[in-house]
Amino acid sequence: MNYKIGEVIRNNPILFDTYEMEIAGFTNATQGQFVNISTGDKSMLLRRPISISEVKDESIVIIYKVVGKGTEILASKKPGDVLDVLGPLGNGFPLVKNRKCVLVGGGIGVPPLVETAKKLKENGCEVNVVIGARNKELVILEDKLKEYGKVYVATDDGSYGMKGNVIDCIEQNQIDFDVLYACGPNIMLKFLDKKYYGVKEGYLSFEQRMACGVGICYGCILKPKENREAFLRVCKDGPVFELGVVKYE
Ligand code: FES
Repeated sequence: MNYKIGEVIRNNPILFDTYEMEIAGFTNATQGQFVNISTGDKSMLLRRPISISEVKDESIVIIYKVVGKGTEILASKKPGDVLDVLGPLGNGFPLVKNRKCVLVGGGIGVPPLVETAKKLKENGCEVNVVIGARNKELVILEDKLKEYGKVYVATDDGSYGMKGNVIDCIEQNQIDFDVLYACGPNIMLKFLDKKYYGVKEGYLSFEQRMACGVGICYGCILKPKENREAFLRVCKDGPVFELGVVKYE
């Protein structure tokens, strides 16, 4: 098919407030990178940073939650609409070979694990995935991730999988791993960092509000631990940082 770069191929809800969109182009993206999308509405200057879930031959897949006017506009886009998309951006997850990996996703942090799991499996890794969600209704991409490894689910209310958080899930299921990959709310990353820094190799992908998306405005900074450079720009230096790099509030 001859699509234009940025053309919407499909855009469908996968949950009441969460959509999956396939966009033509950007096939040089790697696992864990993101795109910054303009809604096309002139009253909204800021683009929406959205992580890339899958990279296909002619397109990328993104999964986003409708949380305000900008993402409402994205949800209204139809196949054939052409979006102004900047990307792929950010560093993405580094890949390892022939290792035991655990991939941990919380909430809307689950989508980038799909491409990461696929690439790690291709690299001969043993892939275990832990999905954390508030409840059963909010668990996404479980079947997709099962294509690449064993999937465990933890919910806050115990309505699906085990009741507890992602660390409880790793421990109770005795998931044996050498390398951790995680994406999700900063509080989840903080606890994973505290638990596994100095113990395991690990990479954390941070979610942060962004403006430029390309390292110019310093609107997305995190503080590094002491004795490191003054700022970490999530959009340009990240969104992925090794365990032990970020200082938490
Ligand atoms: Fe501008 Fe990161 S969003 S520097």
